[in-house]
Amino acid sequence: MERIRIGLVGCGGMGTRHLHGLRSLKQTPFNNVDLVALCDVNKENVELAAKEAFRLLGVTPRTFTDLASMISGIEMDAVDVVTDPSVHHEVACAALEMGLHIMVEKPMAITVGTCRMMIEAAEKNNRVLSVAENYRRDPSARLVNHLLNAGAIGRPYHAILHHLSPGRKIFITPWRHLKNKGGPLIDMGVHYTDLIRYQLGEVAEVYGDVRLVEKVRTKSETMSMDYEFYRRRLQAMSTEVPAYAEDVSLAQFKMTDGVTVDWNVGMGGYGSVGLELILGDQGAFHGFGNRGARVKMRNSEEGELDQEGMLAIAKEYELDPLSKHFFPSGITQGDPEVDWKLIALEYHEFAEAILTGRKAEVDGEEGMRDVAAIYAVFESSRAGRSVSMDEVVSCDVYAYQDEIDQALGVAKSKD
Ligand SMILES: NC(=O)c1ccc[n+]([C@@H]2O[C@H](COP(=O)([O-])OP(=O)(O)OC[C@H]3O[C@@H](n4cnc5c(N)ncnc54)[C@H](O)[C@@H]3O)[C@@H](O)[C@H]2O)c1
Repeated sequence: MERIRIGLVGCGGMGTRHLHGLRSLKQTPFNNVDLVALCDVNKENVELAAKEAFRLLGVTPRTFTDLASMISGIEMDAVDVVTDPSVHHEVACAALEMGLHIMVEKPMAITVGTCRMMIEAAEKNNRVLSVAENYRRDPSARLVNHLLNAGAIGRPYHAILHHLSPGRKIFITPWRHLKNKGGPLIDMGVHYTDLIRYQLGEVAEVYGDVRLVEKVRTKSETMSMDYEFYRRRLQAMSTEVPAYAEDVSLAQFKMTDGVTVDWNVGMGGYGSVGLELILGDQGAFHGFGNRGARVKMRNSEEGELDQEGMLAIAKEYELDPLSKHFFPSGITQGDPEVDWKLIALEYHEFAEAILTGRKAEVDGEEGMRDVAAIYAVFESSRAGRSVSMDEVVSCDVYAYQDEIDQALGVAKSKD
């Protein structure tokens, strides 16, 4: 099979998981990606990743601490951007200008303006720009999407997406509490705006409120995942860090076809709730679908169905061949490798887009709209009124993000 040669930039927590994703892909007959280089501004991180690459993939990629040397130093087709999101635009635009295709972790960038810079660079250089959004690639999300489009719950009219987790622990990394690095609501919220848009179509209008509740964050003693890099990252973390980025949000999304979505996402304070519902005039889904999630459905004809029952009534439902290979039962809950397999799916689809000219599923426009939808909550909060998605996508309502662009040094002059 024809393969692309890729360089991975950003060898931190998610960069490590991308190496596992490459191994998952390599173990299948579908492998179409070869890792040829690793790059990180932190030498220790790139060296640890090189050891992991050898252990997982049996290859010794060249290592670099700056992007330009990597691109000029070795032949490759594409760059996988897994740095913190405040530099996604910088790394991606530089690589696009040097003729490389880009896969970039979510959030695509930390303002709509910087997303636009990436789209323009990809168009100008005629390169593929793909956003690694994993949640929608889980078969649970694919199944809900199929049944929703087949009319299994009739006409959707309302949805609820509530994810509130209490506490004042550092949310994964200290940079996730800095507005100019993205903030926790951008980091998580973009997954949810992507799921909302995937399942329910385009956002028309948003009324929202954001607050900073926890102004100081303390180090957690536990890790969400057990990797050598995560252990080192935790060890190096300060016991207490200041938080400047808002950490709770409340919003109403109005979709273009009239569905309203009730949104409550936060990671601070005392409240705790987790609920996902899509309501239609003939039934409801419990769950939008998510990495390793299980979904349920109830409708007037079938009563209550678990995911197995949903699969049984899903006529003409078919996963793509690689998803079928990874998840033959169609259910990912309990699969210890689900994270890596979804990353493998992202790589495979990206390489296919390069090799066959097929459009990437979450391309620059989609990735930018996911970012715009979460910033619509912030911009509405700042403006004190509801905002249209058009105003946010066009950067006409931009007060909150303008401050970030100023800090990044990319703000457009007003005259
Ligand atoms: N899809 C998911 O489920 C998921 C999960 C975790 C993280 N992520 C995303 O992955 C990205 C990275 O997150 P993380 O948790 O791995 O962060 P991290 O802080 O652990 O790692 C970031 C790495 O990037 C490096 N870096 C920073 N600037 C660089 C530059 N200009 N050039 C080269 N390297 C640079 C850092 O030194 C660090 O090693 C973020 O966009 C995050 O939102 C996605």
